[in-house]
Amino acid sequence: MTWLITGGAGYIGAHVARAMAEAGERVVALDDLSSGVPNRLPESIPLVRGSSLDGDLLKRVFAEHAVTGVVHLAARKQVGESVAEPTRYYRENVGGLATLLEAAAAAGVERFLFSSSAAVYGNPDVDLITEDTPCAPMSPYGETKLAGEWLVRAAGRTHGIATVCLRYFNVAGAAAPELADTGVFNVIPMVFERLTHDEAPRIFGDDYPTPDGTCVRDYIHVADLAEAHLAAARRLADGATGDLTVNIGRGEGVSVRELLTLIGEVSGDTREPVVEPRRPGDAPRAVASAALAAKELNWSARRDVREMVESAWEGWLLRHSGTQAD
Ligand SMILES: NC(=O)c1ccc[n+]([C@@H]2O[C@H](COP(=O)([O-])OP(=O)(O)OC[C@H]3O[C@@H](n4cnc5c(N)ncnc54)[C@H](O)[C@@H]3O)[C@@H](O)[C@H]2O)c1
Repeated sequence: MTWLITGGAGYIGAHVARAMAEAGERVVALDDLSSGVPNRLPESIPLVRGSSLDGDLLKRVFAEHAVTGVVHLAARKQVGESVAEPTRYYRENVGGLATLLEAAAAAGVERFLFSSSAAVYGNPDVDLITEDTPCAPMSPYGETKLAGEWLVRAAGRTHGIATVCLRYFNVAGAAAPELADTGVFNVIPMVFERLTHDEAPRIFGDDYPTPDGTCVRDYIHVADLAEAHLAAARRLADGATGDLTVNIGRGEGVSVRELLTLIGEVSGDTREPVVEPRRPGDAPRAVASAALAAKELNWSARRDVREMVESAWEGWLLRHSGTQAD
């Protein structure tokens, strides 16, 4: 098989492309480089520069590389930006997916893996979020992921494409420092940025109904996430039919305060966090049930939160030492 990995020069996409290539899969990456970094990919992985919205380009890529499966990660992913620019998010995330599915169906592709998100659930009031927990996204970004899942399943049924939707929880860490996330949109890089500017980390609300009063999240190491993609791709390659939608998390909650303690230990900067008011829309707790992934993909996360923080910190130091060029 040859897998087309869209968004392959991105933070997660580069980890997925490398893990699949190292496991012996043939892969080709497509990326418009709007936030991707080409040198995250080794030279052995071909990188096509272009957009998932460009149907003619996709047609050529499917033909020239004899693509037989797709892993679709290319998307805009910032919640706040999606509130400010909802039409752009629908056009790029849902429109790009529709164009890609049409090209895939026309090329006779029979396997499709879609990068979804825990954002599809919104803020459910449950201990563990299962795949049956009702979806109620709270942002246009989350809506595009849920609409994307519907589209993937509908097109899969019509065109005989077997599909998997992976709902990632909070992705963190790096398999190597040069592969670290370059964005500052998640809590770990946000704290690193504060420390780098000689500022105390912030906690938004410490009066939630959680053990230490701070929000609880399920963090997943990006290297584990890449292995989940490989497991899902192998399931599809082995002839799975129909559709599967599955959470990708560790099934364990970590509070913001616990995370900050770990960051202090790893960075050596143990200054006391400042507590600020709650942010609107933050759920007290969002932790995955990881049972379905274990059953259907025979996959479970192996790396703990300390490994995520340590590897993210190494990436941050490399990036801020002035030696890495984007
Ligand atoms: N990072 C997270 O915590 C997280 C959580 C849940 C889901 N996701 C999803 O995972 C996927 C990858 O996220 P990431 O964190 O690696 O982000 P990223 O921004 O690093 O990667 C996205 C990549 O897609 C490329 N891209 C964007 N739009 C494109 C288009 N129309 N055509 C071609 N390339 C395009 C970008 O240049 C970038 O390289 C996204 O679909 C995102 O919604 C991420």
